[in-house]
Amino acid sequence: MRITVLGSAAGGGFPQWNCNCRNCAGVRSGTVRARPRTQSSIFVRPDEGDDGVLFNASPDILEQIRSNPALQPARALRDSAIAGVVLIDGQVDHATGLFMLRERTKPLPLWCTDPVSEDLSQGNPVLRVLSHYCGVARHAIALDGSAFEVPGVSGLDFRALALTGKAAPYSPHRDDPVAGDNIGITIRDRKSGRSVFYAPGLGAITPPVFDAMASADAVMVDGTFWTDDEMVRLGVGTKRAREIGHLPQSGEGGMIEWLARLPAGTRRMLIHINNTNPILDEDSDEHAALRRADIEPCEDGMTLQL
Ligand code: MLT
Ligand code: MN
Ligand code: ZN
Repeated sequence: MRITVLGSAAGGGFPQWNCNCRNCAGVRSGTVRARPRTQSSIFVRPDEGDDGVLFNASPDILEQIRSNPALQPARALRDSAIAGVVLIDGQVDHATGLFMLRERTKPLPLWCTDPVSEDLSQGNPVLRVLSHYCGVARHAIALDGSAFEVPGVSGLDFRALALTGKAAPYSPHRDDPVAGDNIGITIRDRKSGRSVFYAPGLGAITPPVFDAMASADAVMVDGTFWTDDEMVRLGVGTKRAREIGHLPQSGEGGMIEWLARLPAGTRRMLIHINNTNPILDEDSDEHAALRRADIEPCEDGMTLQL
């Protein structure tokens, strides 16, 4: 399969429009060596054919499509390589791009869990709004470990795992999580047998999550924060990483420790990186520590053949 990272930043992107933290100010002025990044999304296609699956629909989707010609194969007057969309949660950074797909000539095939579908029909009624445009052909993602496929994208299958995470602030269960608010997905190429575990929002690594990570050839997991108190310490927020469903990279029980326990050959990547995270500065000690641990921070436009 071929994977394209369309957006590697967390909500807000990098630099974030209203932020003058060291990273955001530094990337704008050129004093910090870092690459700008758009908001969280990947596109996955089999080795053959144009059509693929969009994982998450970022507010930056139009810019992402323009920057990645693979998404516009131009086979017809109206065309797109997006055969279907899979959502891993119902947050603004993953769902807002659905509005931008409203010009489709047929209903948009969309896979999400029941709680996400509810949040996107009530608290933030994107799916109801879209019914006035192209409409949505929604398919429920099961949490029982069964695989699903996206018609038109042959040879790939997808298996969801409920994660410890947070629903969006407009969800009635923001403070009382239910299974399916947030999922990780194992994306598998049936021909080669190779797979990637994708989980841009991952609050805790439970035994089933670790099993899914250890069984994959590559992991693309939550890179939001370096420390639990990153936003508090920088004075840009009051919430701690774990409180909002993101396991920080550093420290005891952090993502770096977990990734070190994976089989030696596993490719380790971080995605959904918040603009405050020091790993974005390519000259930082934290970036160097990641590299020493054989962990790659994803960049927009990065492609992977698995
Ligand atoms: C998150 O991942 O925690 C959310 O997307 C944050 C946000 O965008 O507001
Ligand atoms: Mn997010
Ligand atoms: Zn910032």
